[in-house]
Amino acid sequence: MRVLITGGTGFIGRRLALTLLERGRLADGSGNARPVDAVTLFDVTAPAVPLPADPRLSLRTGDIGDPATVKALFGNDVGCVYHLAAVVSAGAEQDFDLGIRVNLEGTRNVLEASRALGTAPTVVLASSVAVYGGDMPKVIGDDFHTTPTTSYGIQKAASELLVNDYSRKGFVDGRALRLPTVVVRPGKPNKAASTWASSIIREPLNGEEAVCPVPPEQEMWLLSARKAVDAFVRAAELPAEAWGKNRTVALPGITRTVRQMVKALGNVAGKAATARIRWQPDPFVQRIIDGWPTRFAPKRGLALGFTADDRFEDVIQAFIEDELGGRFVA
Ligand SMILES: NC(=O)c1ccc[n+]([C@@H]2O[C@H](COP(=O)([O-])OP(=O)(O)OC[C@H]3O[C@@H](n4cnc5c(N)ncnc54)[C@H](O)[C@@H]3O)[C@@H](O)[C@H]2O)c1
Repeated sequence: MRVLITGGTGFIGRRLALTLLERGRLADGSGNARPVDAVTLFDVTAPAVPLPADPRLSLRTGDIGDPATVKALFGNDVGCVYHLAAVVSAGAEQDFDLGIRVNLEGTRNVLEASRALGTAPTVVLASSVAVYGGDMPKVIGDDFHTTPTTSYGIQKAASELLVNDYSRKGFVDGRALRLPTVVVRPGKPNKAASTWASSIIREPLNGEEAVCPVPPEQEMWLLSARKAVDAFVRAAELPAEAWGKNRTVALPGITRTVRQMVKALGNVAGKAATARIRWQPDPFVQRIIDGWPTRFAPKRGLALGFTADDRFEDVIQAFIEDELGGRFVA
């Protein structure tokens, strides 16, 4: 079968593609393992890092907000769609119309194109804990309501509901993952309000200065890229019955303060690395981050077999192995 990954040249999409190619198979919602004959990446931008030369891998560029472009992407062999294309949090907050077009209309375009196949393909949506907001308890349980306080969170929450409804109607076999902040992103900072959570690890490991816009006591709900990719594979492979009527799950993660993250960096890379972090508060970033919960009791996610990282040191180590070729500046 063909796997289509929207936002495929992005951080998670690229890693997911590499993993699927390496595995060479993916079970469908009925539990039948099927060979991955083709992986198509769709994105508005070209990959920052060259893609491997694999005859199964292809790249299509275009705008997810354009229904005709999205429809033209889908051939009858598409069995699984990972919908990751998005304008991230601060980007959607700064440009409302772009956020609606990409994050909401983009999801609708993907669901409509999937529906038009008539085969009810698996559709896995990348959602976010940004769907929570407002007055929140200290620990968020699975049943806590979604009252996002950012445009990005609202667009993700609305996308989750659409995935549920298209699944209820039998148009697609949908699944949606509420991702914690995924670290450590390679390359350059992006427009996510959480981008510094990667920068404070990545830049020091590259021998560069990082700016941290939040205080050391700031907590974050975190997941490694490896675990995030595992979750996307698992989400597609779980049988439809396991999801039932609610096609959304909050993934397990780990809560760490920035101080703990920096300490872990020191444990892995030494004090010279942590000395490269400059602390400079940014009220715009802080305002967005303040709306995000940091502690969860993701019982459903754990029951469905999703897992979190054990130690933040392991998250850093995995980044060094997967993205830095095993080398860093001490
Ligand atoms: N990384 C995280 O911490 C995190 C946390 C929660 C949710 N998510 C969600 O997971 C998904 C993947 O995240 P990521 O970290 O890989 O983000 P990313 O920014 O690296 O990747 C998103 C991709 O979408 C593409 N895109 C943007 N506008 C587009 C358009 N108009 N048409 C086609 N493609 C377009 C971008 O070019 C980018 O390559 C996103 O949906 C994001 O909202 C990520």
